Amino acid sequence: MRVGIACDHGGFTLKSHVVEVLAENGCDVIDMGTDSFESVDYPDFAIKALESLAKGECDRIVLMCGTGIGMSMCANRVKGVRGGLCHDSYTARMSRLHNNSNCLILGGRTTGPAVAREIVQIWLNTPFEGGRHQRRLDKLEKIQDTVKRGA
Ligand code: RB5
Repeated sequence: MRVGIACDHGGFTLKSHVVEVLAENGCDVIDMGTDSFESVDYPDFAIKALESLAKGECDRIVLMCGTGIGMSMCANRVKGVRGGLCHDSYTARMSRLHNNSNCLILGGRTTGPAVAREIVQIWLNTPFEGGRHQRRLDKLEKIQDTVKRGA
């Protein structure tokens, strides 16, 4: 599996741990930065990874910022991206079983390396259940066309 990874300064420490776990699990990792603690804007790095997912250069992506919230907001604006902000093994498992998450989001200031390791392993290895959950994901894809602010 080719996995793209991107973070801001708030996710920078956690990124190296996650890259290690991805590599241990046989993934080809495409690291799109950031590469220091220097303050940056998380959308700039989210866009790099989201574009690579949209172009099919990676199969899935992992995004990290301080809380994971900003990266979640970025990810879930893009059609076809199903970003799941995961805090533990349960949310990681459910993000795959029910939501077919193709974008894992972690908070570098909320999730430590040991928990992140568990989350990444589960997220990589848990299949999507399909069935009624696919019907819900089909509806989710139409939200941007259906709900127009100010319309
Ligand atoms: C950066 O200080 C912080 O706001 C960012 O990493 C993230 O938590 C945003 O949601």
